[in-house]
Amino acid sequence: HALAKKAGLQYFGTASDIVSVAALDKTYAKIISDKREFGQLTPANGQKWFAIEPQENLFNFSYGDVTSKYAKKNKQLLRCHNLVWHSQLADWVLQKTWTKKTLTAALINHVTNEAKHWKGQCYHWDVVNEALEDDGSFRNTTFLHVIGPEYIAIAFKAAHAADPHAKLYYNDYNLERPNAKVDAVINKIVKPLQRQRIPIHGVGMQAHLTASRAPTIDQTIDVMKNFTNLGVECALTELDVRVTDPATPENMAQQKVAFAAATGACVQVKGCVGVTVWDFWDPVSWIPGVFAGQGSGTLFFPNFTRHPAYDGVADAL
Ligand code: XIL
Repeated sequence: HALAKKAGLQYFGTASDIVSVAALDKTYAKIISDKREFGQLTPANGQKWFAIEPQENLFNFSYGDVTSKYAKKNKQLLRCHNLVWHSQLADWVLQKTWTKKTLTAALINHVTNEAKHWKGQCYHWDVVNEALEDDGSFRNTTFLHVIGPEYIAIAFKAAHAADPHAKLYYNDYNLERPNAKVDAVINKIVKPLQRQRIPIHGVGMQAHLTASRAPTIDQTIDVMKNFTNLGVECALTELDVRVTDPATPENMAQQKVAFAAATGACVQVKGCVGVTVWDFWDPVSWIPGVFAGQGSGTLFFPNFTRHPAYDGVADAL
């Protein structure tokens, strides 16, 4: 974070499930609360629908509060994540029989209550997460199916009304090189919201990358400029670079190039405001649980020595 600030970024941050990790591991806690390392935190799970509204209109903010309080104590920026997503949703949303009218009301109720709870604390809100497929079509979720694509505008509108100072982001993966999904973010999300004068301030590029086929710095710069040319900012919101385990000198060298390219792209594009890694310690990374045989995707090994990619990031800043 110290280097990122000098390079003109607003922050270098990390996602974390503080509640389960920092409390248990002293070294992890020391690194995450060191502002030379991280000037921004994102709750990895604590603000997701299943945790916030586990039953209809029954709200429980305690999981997310752990991270927001931690960030406040350490004077770190908070990126809030997320208000609307098809995954890690509450069962009742999937199980109930909805009409367009009732689901719209439930959506507005969720967004409003959650955004109000953290009003004034979220530097950014990921309002809608992963609404697009890789081919650029809208992802077929309950929200799309029952409400239609306008659920996105409805969510941004409600978020802005509840927390007028938060910067509102659309967040998705596979946006780090030019492709159909990038075009869809521009043509199906950002431009339509702007046409309707509904605030959208940024595009979050998750950047869950694979070392052996990571985008080049020029590809990422190209996309970032396409976003910022629309008058919105962008950020790398969930950066990690997975390899086929185990870590070897070869795959760690590839990973270093990928981390450096992603970070370097953000430095070079005015309007890319910051970089967030999706946790920084291999043992708590989400990667091995989701991509079989893959891992070692963060900046710190299990014994807390640094990956070569740590220097790659530092060099890019
Ligand atoms: C992941 C969390 O890190 C895991 O702990 C959880 O089991 C699943 O979700 N894209 C996102 C994040 O936007 O919310 C996801 O986080 C990773 C992919």
